[in-house]
Amino acid sequence: MKFYLRLVPLLIVMGAVLIQSCTNEPPTDLTKESIIPKPVSVTATGKGFLLKSPTILVDESLKDNLGSYLATELNRITGITPNIESTTETSKAGNIYLVVTDGDAELGAEGYELSISEDSVTITANKPAGVFYGIQTLLQVVPLKSDKSGNYSIATGTIRDYPTWGWRGSMLDVARHFFSVDDVKRYIDMLSYYKINILHLHLTDDQGWRIEIKSWPNVAIHGGTTQVDGGKGGYYTQEQYKELVAYAAARYITIVPEIDMPSHINAALASYGELNNPETKFPKDGNYAGPVETKGIGEGKDKPTDLYAGREVGWSTLSLSKPTTMKFVNDVIRELSAITPGAYIHIGGDEAHVTKKEDYIEFINRFSEIVKANGKQMIGWEEISQANIDGNAIAQHWASEDHAKEAAAKGAKIIMSPSKRVYLDMKYDSLSRIGYNWAAYIEVDDAYNWDPSTRVSGINKEQILGVEAPLWGETLKNMDDVMYLLFPRLPGVAEIGWSPAAGRSWDEYKVRLGNHGPRMKAWGIDYYRSKKVQWSE
Ligand code: ACM
Repeated sequence: MKFYLRLVPLLIVMGAVLIQSCTNEPPTDLTKESIIPKPVSVTATGKGFLLKSPTILVDESLKDNLGSYLATELNRITGITPNIESTTETSKAGNIYLVVTDGDAELGAEGYELSISEDSVTITANKPAGVFYGIQTLLQVVPLKSDKSGNYSIATGTIRDYPTWGWRGSMLDVARHFFSVDDVKRYIDMLSYYKINILHLHLTDDQGWRIEIKSWPNVAIHGGTTQVDGGKGGYYTQEQYKELVAYAAARYITIVPEIDMPSHINAALASYGELNNPETKFPKDGNYAGPVETKGIGEGKDKPTDLYAGREVGWSTLSLSKPTTMKFVNDVIRELSAITPGAYIHIGGDEAHVTKKEDYIEFINRFSEIVKANGKQMIGWEEISQANIDGNAIAQHWASEDHAKEAAAKGAKIIMSPSKRVYLDMKYDSLSRIGYNWAAYIEVDDAYNWDPSTRVSGINKEQILGVEAPLWGETLKNMDDVMYLLFPRLPGVAEIGWSPAAGRSWDEYKVRLGNHGPRMKAWGIDYYRSKKVQWSE
């Protein structure tokens, strides 16, 4: 065959693709939509619902601001400005209904049914959270561009959907580099788009203390003034923290605050000399952020340490023998609990390399009592398995399967954050412009291709709460850096948390992810263009 004849089929395919993308045919097959996380079930009915000046009808039982939330988000995508009405009537053509009716047991507290006919769109759920997740799915099936007649329409059919795991988390380290209230709100928006329901804020570390404590003001005023590699740092006032909590709650996200103790504590030791511990061994990396003459640990055990702007870990520790230490811990947990409506306080507990083992165990036992006395449940990194923990504790697995198994054997529930899979501060490959690689290079498929319930042999599904992807902040200077490492791995972690493991496969997922390229771009995200995915433009 002549060479140019062999090109004919290719030209036909290319022509068809070109015609399709130029004419923007209205979608009619709901099963072909690229929804992340993948819903439990999608049935198509082959028609289209025309999204033309709709009224959003909010069921009177749904006393929430979900109508205005949906209106704002639809407007962001399409420019259309829907009306919002509160109603009990449910059959007016052209409208979108948000309805809460208790009684569909399969959907549980977070599930929803999204039903799209030619006449109307209805999201039904047992609880407002389910309506919120139905809205996220709806937003993902609204085309980003109008069709050739200038209209937006949505394929018809029914989606029934509910999560596999109750804990679908992301952790942001605001201690190593500080991120503003507006940055964190943007982060929350991204989480909610993918149905993530936990934001763990790593609020304190050697390099910075980021939350106002009224009874120990210097921890934030002084301990918040630096960050990794220098820079001015910052902290949240309690009012600002409450603003974040409320912003997250409106998106059905619980904030889990972490005060990392007894190690990772230099920002506090630098702020109050009476907390200092002679066992703290200031690293010899020269990254002292204070006046050069004080160089590292304060002379004498009651002098404050210097501030620190380096990247070493595990060298600082609270002192069990100092009378002020437990008063400090009590005050911090009390104040933090009072401004945290969520059920959890994370006490860190990782990498306490210079804390004597018997002291470490005593610390965790006491933290546990204090957290409980403040009406909260204690979470700690997996090393807390060494203490007298029980079914009241939650351990977060990151590196040691032995610690995770020990915690589970003691009755603690486990959050799965295996660093080789979901430490999203790890580089994608050796060419990544930021990130670490001490755990692994984590390509997009590595972050997706695993299952919490089979990750650690000996820990079964009933012992696991779910999945959380930590984003440590040493190499992250701004939100572009954050987004580069989060995307496109975060949507995959969200899918692990939400979608049934049995229906997941990388080959099928990577097509949906590729189709999300324009959606991430529409959010202003300059995501990493992994070569393992064919990206739609
Ligand atoms: C950790 O990565 N140190 C929990």
